[in-house]
Amino acid sequence: MTKSTPSSKTASPATRKTLEELRSQRWFAAADLRAFGHRSRALQMGYDRREFMGKPVIGILNTWSDIAPCHGHFKQRVEEVKRGVWQAGGFPIELPAISLAENFVKPTTMLYRNFLAMEAEELIRSHPVDGAVLMGGCDKTTPGLIMGATSAGLSSGVPFIYMPAGAMLRGNWGGKVLGSGSDVWKYWAEKQAGNITEAQWGEMEEGIARSYGTCMTMGTAATMMSIADVLGLSLPGASSIPAADAGHSRMAAQSGMRIVEMVWEGLTPDKILSRASFDNALATHMALAGSTNCMIHLIAMAGRAGIDVSLDDFDAWSRKVPVLANLRPSGEFLMEDFFYAGGLRAMLSEMRSHLQLSTMTVTGKTLGENLEGAPNWQPEVIRPMSNPLSTPDQGGGGTAILRGNLAPNGCVIKPSAAEPHLLKHTGPALVFETYDEMAGQIDREDLAVTRDHVLVLKNAGPVGGPGMPEWGMLPIPKVLLKQGVRDMLRISDARMSGTSYGACILHVSPEAYVKGPLAAVKTGDLISVDVEARTIHLHVDDAEIAQRIAAWRAPNRDYPRGYGWMFARHITQADKGCDFDFLEGTAPVAEPEIH
Ligand code: FES
Repeated sequence: MTKSTPSSKTASPATRKTLEELRSQRWFAAADLRAFGHRSRALQMGYDRREFMGKPVIGILNTWSDIAPCHGHFKQRVEEVKRGVWQAGGFPIELPAISLAENFVKPTTMLYRNFLAMEAEELIRSHPVDGAVLMGGCDKTTPGLIMGATSAGLSSGVPFIYMPAGAMLRGNWGGKVLGSGSDVWKYWAEKQAGNITEAQWGEMEEGIARSYGTCMTMGTAATMMSIADVLGLSLPGASSIPAADAGHSRMAAQSGMRIVEMVWEGLTPDKILSRASFDNALATHMALAGSTNCMIHLIAMAGRAGIDVSLDDFDAWSRKVPVLANLRPSGEFLMEDFFYAGGLRAMLSEMRSHLQLSTMTVTGKTLGENLEGAPNWQPEVIRPMSNPLSTPDQGGGGTAILRGNLAPNGCVIKPSAAEPHLLKHTGPALVFETYDEMAGQIDREDLAVTRDHVLVLKNAGPVGGPGMPEWGMLPIPKVLLKQGVRDMLRISDARMSGTSYGACILHVSPEAYVKGPLAAVKTGDLISVDVEARTIHLHVDDAEIAQRIAAWRAPNRDYPRGYGWMFARHITQADKGCDFDFLEGTAPVAEPEIH
């Protein structure tokens, strides 16, 4: 990570904010009854006037909870962020936000990403906050925090900096390196095939997650932390620092120091987020072979900044940029190795020719300036452009967007994580109407399925899931596992974990539940997929598809009340980013009145 302290390039004195211009002054500086209340209540908490008066107030949005293992270190990190804020002359206030622990929150954290986005936006807007530090990392926390802080930042002129949780240490089982998610699926298949004992499985349970921090494969967490980094929203290279490294604590304190300066400089998100910075994010996603979930999150994040990113942008970049990060599930290594090899800055340096280096970042410097002096120490981990892990013309790009009569608005596959022979395939469908139906049948010894079948799952989309759960890596049927089959073509309107792999076609839009063509598929129908041609085709004529859809009945997913009721009515489809329709855009929301 480059050194980025308050001495980084700052605004000229003429453009620096004055104390009177700080937003928090509306709460603390007035000579009225209400400001008396604000000051007296700050004093009630034991702060001396000199600690909070005349200083930028920094809101620290902390997604810690007792059941969020990826953020287990946030109780300590928040103190380090505060230390940095105090050092730089700010007044830190910690604002807890929903933790969204990926493994514990059901039915899926995706149901609540927008909940966090709303919470982040309103926490910033409603409090006397001049700048914000976003503490996130586990999958949905990064996009949720950034979506909300972007909207608040644009409306209220509040700068923010993102502090990534960092990845956990490598997993270990009997001297073998284990990767989050990816190796769980892999060894579970071996257990189902009878090749792993219960005792060995228990040993893996104890060795796969050895420290706090996020999943350490190139899953959704590592992808989104890296995306925030290249967008210029974190200190340069912060996303690659392992959670348990002392450098992570230093980065936390530096983030606290830096946000105070960003307030004085007025370095708001509109000065950082641009079409060019999102193009850099798209290119980086391809070089990382990042999680397919990024497609949904990046579209939603860009939408909050008023920038139109589409699935076609992902496809266009996937045809240009090779995969450089040799990380599981597409490659061999883990995030800890990526850090030792030089981390994201080293990879970005390798792919400079695909980046627009003049984009602004939280350091007050450009991306190009932040990349100066970033060596690649291990070219086997971070491949140079001359020796990529896979190239688009090998069908091995990070992402491919397919369209056809089965997915008029698009669907996605990660070719680099699939067995190559499945990238062009025709086979009969084996259809499951719901996840429960699939779970009840997939291990039956008499299941009529061959390795050429295409598994299809319906009702797992944004509304039908609900929340688009990570069900898209459908299990390989047990009878086929015993025959040695480890990959087959699978199609659904679900998402899949970024740590998953296989020939899984995801995010089919529109989803079955809203009567997209996926609803019409029946067992035995032929389906063709051609990744190079970017096509997906159901061999049933249009009139028959229309007739089947008209007769099809979706399962009842209605919520009689509550958050789910609102979710079902306002969630957009996967190709639009799954934001709530009423949260999209950049229309300014008025500052709160203080009376
Ligand atoms: Fe939190 Fe994977 S469970 S990042």
